[in-house]
Amino acid sequence: MNIAVIGGDGTGPEVAAEGVKVLKAVAKLEGFDKDLKLTDLDWGGDRYLKTGEALPADAIDQLRKFDCILLGAVGHPDVKPGILERKLLLDLRFGLDQYINLRPVKLFPGVETPLKDKKPEDIDFIVVRENTEDLYCGAGGFMHKGTPNEVATQTAIYTRKGCERAIRYAFELCKKRNNPKGKKLTLVAKTNVLTTGHDLWWRTFQEVGAEYPEIEKDYNHVDACCMWIVKNPEFYDVIVTTNMFGDIITDLSGIIQGGMGVAAGGNINPDKGGVSMFEPMGGSAPKYTGTGKINPIAAINAVSMLLDQQGHPKAAKRVMDAIMKVTATKMKSQNAGKMGYTTSEVGDLVVEAL
Ligand code: IPM
Ligand code: MG
Repeated sequence: MNIAVIGGDGTGPEVAAEGVKVLKAVAKLEGFDKDLKLTDLDWGGDRYLKTGEALPADAIDQLRKFDCILLGAVGHPDVKPGILERKLLLDLRFGLDQYINLRPVKLFPGVETPLKDKKPEDIDFIVVRENTEDLYCGAGGFMHKGTPNEVATQTAIYTRKGCERAIRYAFELCKKRNNPKGKKLTLVAKTNVLTTGHDLWWRTFQEVGAEYPEIEKDYNHVDACCMWIVKNPEFYDVIVTTNMFGDIITDLSGIIQGGMGVAAGGNINPDKGGVSMFEPMGGSAPKYTGTGKINPIAAINAVSMLLDQQGHPKAAKRVMDAIMKVTATKMKSQNAGKMGYTTSEVGDLVVEAL
């Protein structure tokens, strides 16, 4: 496994380092440590401030040589918001055609959720977010900019290919996940208002769904979904949704699983030779840089996802079990500075649990 590690900005490199620590430990235990090759890439805000570019011109070509990528975080206090997000995160997602954004929502034992009376068995679903289209394409423009007559357009683009591959991936995942409570895929969209783009999603969902008679199909409008996620998260098994709505519901989901210190995601290109990128969902939290206060569980969770996707499901489960042991028995809280341990001590605890 040839892995590029992009620590990124702020506390990104610190949490990524804990992920790498756990990755090396599990590889040793599972006997594939000799096959592990890690390469650090110093891409991000500091590089942007020094050279004017966040990543080299041939970044995509360089990354294609790796099997996958572990990302720390992007966001630098001295760089205008939006630049690094687009340059680093979105350009890599688009450039490597990582068309699935996979966001497992699982409440680990011992982790506090803001939802009253909800237990780990109630919060365990996964969001498949389309990751290359929609309002994220950057299609649009201005007319009469800066004048009282200004017009701004931002166009949501949906393609049959784009929604079909996301929907198909979600059905396959649902089948594989084989939830003992019942296999169910919920499409989340807004078909009552977005009567063209989401009509395409709806029809594609019906057509592809016909190939999966064993899977229950459900549909939520996105606004209703936001209510149900809070009231009855146990309703969900797998959700498939568009890029923009997926962005919103995954933060809502992230907080019910214990917040950004725990939540992880994968930007996946499942095709043969595709290069996927795994990341903790928390931001770069620059003010905490070097303080050891940030929770690395999310980055370690990202490593478990990486292992699973790279064909090491046993090692992935081992990491997941170790995480749950640590959250259940050691950590006081998942919030920055309140864990009862430093960033690196939490990494050590997970290694010990392994
Ligand atoms: C996410 C993030 C990104 C997104 C930002 C940082 C561009 O919120 O991965 O969910 O909107 O996709
Ligand atoms: Mg988001």
